[in-house]
Amino acid sequence: MKSQFMSGIRLTGTGSAVPSTYLDNHQLSKIVVTSDEWIASRTGIYRRHLLPHKDSLTNIATSAAQKAMMMAGLTPQQLDLIILATSTPDDLFGNASLIQAQLGARQAVAFDLTAACSGFVYSLITAAQFIRTGAYRNVLVIGADVLSRWVDWSDRSTCVLFGDGAGAVVLQANEQDYLLGFQLHTDGTQNHHLNLRYQGQARTLVDGVFIDQGKYQPLKMNGKEIYRFAIQKVPEVIEKALFQADITAAEVDWLLMHQANQRILEAVAARLDIPARKIISNVANYGNTSGASIPLALDEAIRCGQIQPHNTLAIAGFGAGLTWGAAIFKWV
Ligand code: ACO
Repeated sequence: MKSQFMSGIRLTGTGSAVPSTYLDNHQLSKIVVTSDEWIASRTGIYRRHLLPHKDSLTNIATSAAQKAMMMAGLTPQQLDLIILATSTPDDLFGNASLIQAQLGARQAVAFDLTAACSGFVYSLITAAQFIRTGAYRNVLVIGADVLSRWVDWSDRSTCVLFGDGAGAVVLQANEQDYLLGFQLHTDGTQNHHLNLRYQGQARTLVDGVFIDQGKYQPLKMNGKEIYRFAIQKVPEVIEKALFQADITAAEVDWLLMHQANQRILEAVAARLDIPARKIISNVANYGNTSGASIPLALDEAIRCGQIQPHNTLAIAGFGAGLTWGAAIFKWV
């Protein structure tokens, strides 16, 4: 129950950006032993966009952010906070500050939040806490990832799944509250099923003094376990968030999940008894863009008129960590 001192939250803008270069399944089958038929039937993916090496995550994230701010009617100077959900920054010390600089959002505090494919939902809820307490009024949440930098392009079980992109939303303090409920979860005991780990390598510095100068290894995933995890945990977490929001699954207008695999989207909807026509999906065109996938799909669905004012959205992310979470929002 929201106290009288707590602010309401409203989603006021969305934006997205993807690199223009893309690779379809037929092109991929020239790189690894696979086929359009295998990829499309197992995942629903037909193509994925890839960031050219001269471009940057900062650029696509900034472009998505500018579109979201334009929709919200907000200038960069009015932003109080920028949260960037990413696992693939241009700078390991933090990428949000580079975006803050490109936007010219001088007053905004900016930081990265890493929770893989759940990063956008975790960031939305983190942003919401700052707004609820009255600390900040105008917050930009960006999800952006460039997993093409980190997949093993000779591993057909993972490289066919991922793509690059960015999406952003503006959240603002509002008298009426449109964040109706949320739930977040983490289970680090299952981390071994999906990770992108640093592997140390000893190097002698001087006189028997060793330092560690290894490197990050390519993304590793046990696809079957992640599939099982997703179709069990995502319906559960959506149900908990709906319970908190005091609404039923039947009242949900749109199911907006992390775009990992069309089969997962359909299996979750079936478990919740939500008709497949209420699933928002663009996985066919972009593959799994990790932290970007939910705001990218949200932006497309709003701009094409699929999502209408006063629609209720059940938003859910899941991925490495393992992490998962859901948020129930009304778009007004
Ligand atoms: N092309 C052709 N054959 C392939 C390919 C490919 N690209 N990839 C795997 N295969 C083969 C396998 O080698 C295997 O062959 P075998 O039976 O001779 O050993 C066969 O196809 C079946 O492989 P499975 O792994 O059992 O395929 P499955 O039906 O489970 O589908 C998939 C794999 C699509 C990865 C599925 O498990 C999945 O979607 N998992 C969830 C992934 C996910 O949602 N990740 C989200 C989180 S991502 C994040 O947080 C960063």
